[in-house]
Amino acid sequence: MLEKINLLFAEISELKVNGPEELESFRLRFLSKKGQISDLFEEFRNVPAEDKKEIGQKLNLLKQSALDKYNLLKSEMLISDTGSRAEDLSRPAVPYSLGSRHPISIVRNEIIDIFRRIGFTVSEGPEIEDDDHVFTKLNFAPEHPARDMQDTFYISRISAEDSNPGDILLRTHTSSVQVRVMQGQKPPIRTISPGRVFRNEAISARAHCIFHQVEGLYIDENVSFADLRQTLLFFAREMYGKDVRIRLRPSYFPFTEPSAEMDISCTICGGKGCNVCKYTGWVEVLGCGMVHPAVLESCGIDSKKYTGFAFGMGIERPAMLKYQVNDLRLYFENDIRFLEQFRTAF
Ligand code: PHE
Repeated sequence: MLEKINLLFAEISELKVNGPEELESFRLRFLSKKGQISDLFEEFRNVPAEDKKEIGQKLNLLKQSALDKYNLLKSEMLISDTGSRAEDLSRPAVPYSLGSRHPISIVRNEIIDIFRRIGFTVSEGPEIEDDDHVFTKLNFAPEHPARDMQDTFYISRISAEDSNPGDILLRTHTSSVQVRVMQGQKPPIRTISPGRVFRNEAISARAHCIFHQVEGLYIDENVSFADLRQTLLFFAREMYGKDVRIRLRPSYFPFTEPSAEMDISCTICGGKGCNVCKYTGWVEVLGCGMVHPAVLESCGIDSKKYTGFAFGMGIERPAMLKYQVNDLRLYFENDIRFLEQFRTAF
């Protein structure tokens, strides 16, 4: 018995395996229930009592060394396995060609970032909308010219003559998203809605039938026009530099009262006058105002308790100023020679 154990010891310590199949036959031969070591344990029962101690120790040692060898061979195999798959770790990687962001996305993200810093959330809504969310709930009179076929792309109309809240159309502004937010949330509301909008305009260097907006909405108790002005001043300074000046001119929107348009001092000439600002020193950037009480009420918000402000701006115009793009159509053509120029931007 002792001799058998010694022979097996020698055999196991010298054994070499090649590949997982041989490793498995090593296991079957020595370590499985029907393997040679188990056989020896079987035989061990018949060993005379006086030899049991010595032989038992040897047998246990044999079993342990077979197990150690098996585990060692197995881990070596795993290492060489991964090694063969990534043979040359110093080889240069496959060249990665980075794309570039679209200038409209760059400017949109910049605007979102600025308002995020002062607690505005981002809301999105559908591009295909109904008249109710785009016009009716926003206090547009039934005969308002913006609802006219000349401005709005209709998908289906209930009546050829009259506007109807059920008409389906492409949204002409993202104020429709704000209607959805007001219907679904309770004040305080602080949100901006970036998105694509559609108006039926002749396409030229200065106008397009698709463009992008970011609109903002703030509703709480005691929100005032001063809050609106200060928020817009903060935005203008972050966006156009700390020396920029703003001015608010009275204007009209059905959904705000009072309404205003905001100009910034021309960033090209600093207000002295150039062809970008048409020698006025000012560039118009957004529309704004206090949310009309009728709009709050139509969206289920108590206009006696809450007030709010709203504003909306296009993205194309500021992006034109920033990157000196002189034709709006370039934004939509996806010409790679144009897009590649924004590679270093993010
Ligand atoms: N919805 C307006 C537009 O598309 C912009 C605007 C939004 C004006 C909010 C005032 C308040 O021109």
